[in-house]
Amino acid sequence: MSPFSELSRAELEDLKEKLLARYHAFQEKKLTLDMTRGKPSPGQLDLAMEMLTGDISREYRSASGVDCRNYGGLDGIREAKALFAAYLEVAEDEIIVGDSASLKMMHDTIMGALVYGVADSDEPWGALDTVKFLCPSPGYDRHFALCQYLGIEMITIGMGADGPDMDRVEDLAASDAAIKGIWCVPKYSNPTGISYSDAVVDRLASMETKANDFKIFCDNAYAVHHLSEIHEPLKNMLSACKEAGNPDRAFLFGSTSKISFAGSGVAMMAGSRRNIEFILGKMQFQTIGPNKLNQLRHVLFFQDVAGIKDHMKKHAAILKPKFDAVLEVLDKELAGSDIASWSRPNGGYFISIDTLPGCARDVIEKAAAAGVKLTPAGATFPYGKDAADRNIRIAPSFPSAADVNTAMELVAICIQLVCIDKLLNRS
Ligand SMILES: Cc1ncc(COP(=O)(O)O)c(C=O)c1O
Repeated sequence: MSPFSELSRAELEDLKEKLLARYHAFQEKKLTLDMTRGKPSPGQLDLAMEMLTGDISREYRSASGVDCRNYGGLDGIREAKALFAAYLEVAEDEIIVGDSASLKMMHDTIMGALVYGVADSDEPWGALDTVKFLCPSPGYDRHFALCQYLGIEMITIGMGADGPDMDRVEDLAASDAAIKGIWCVPKYSNPTGISYSDAVVDRLASMETKANDFKIFCDNAYAVHHLSEIHEPLKNMLSACKEAGNPDRAFLFGSTSKISFAGSGVAMMAGSRRNIEFILGKMQFQTIGPNKLNQLRHVLFFQDVAGIKDHMKKHAAILKPKFDAVLEVLDKELAGSDIASWSRPNGGYFISIDTLPGCARDVIEKAAAAGVKLTPAGATFPYGKDAADRNIRIAPSFPSAADVNTAMELVAICIQLVCIDKLLNRS
């Protein structure tokens, strides 16, 4: 395919007519496909059902003798702490194993920081006129929604192939005491699928910060979520912070939402002992303890990190064909057109497409008008504003591979139609 920018007006109009015929054929199919969120499919959720139906479901006493039906154990049962400490590559006294949502732990950590500060704060973050977070973008929409909800000002930071634009991050963090944190999804990032290089992790860990209580919110949601045998490495953020002499800088988060059950898995957070003690000091007023039965079921089901990794191969076998379907359609329909580029992730839950500037919103609207719902335009940027209006997040996990194929053909048609209109209006 030739670059669309090299096509004559007549050629573009001719192509548009053919694409419109295909678009109208899609409209007649009356599709109702939803690719808005990165949800596991029922087949993936089935993989862990033994936890709820087999012998495991009747267990309630942990190996260390705790009756998991009863109150207590604020930081999680010992076996779950051992399993998930190994999973996050931290020590057992550096982790809290909680209930099902890591997002809730992130929310509570920031809310606590606003009201009480963090372990090394001179005053609560909320005592400042402004609290700011650095937001590598495109990024996870719910991180940004949380900041907006809590009145935290967001500064958009560009994302490269190996992490955020670190020159800008370092400049800003070193010059503004109101900048208290940065969001990071360091592995198979949502939505671009990139993993942070060691150099980026080291720079984040060692950079100068004007705020003495600056925190890295390191959301390792996709730590073992590889799609193939290619496993991208990630330097541990907590170890890097310790090595750099900033042991209290990082909070690590994770969960089994996309390993066992989304919304009924086990969530965890980790940090230096000082941070963990500080967090537990606040948590004791929130809860008497987490759902220990669920933690026990997870320990008995997975046994160890090798068990988690084996289980993730079964997820990959279900997910990979869907990711391949997206890439095959994009390659077939758009390669060489120069109107879009897209990620080829080795893991995670998303494929990120960048169209010509000024097109993403119209593409998403056009796809919706023919029955395919995508993540709203701008959602992957702070305040829902993609200044270039070009990013589209594709979440292929939930529909079947056949439906992904159909949906993506429509998306590719919409990208071409909208970009052709842009080019025709330009000339
Ligand atoms: C980067 C990231 N973090 C966190 C979550 C949600 O995690 P949890 O279910 O543990 O709240 C998601 C879900 O899509 C995510 O993509």
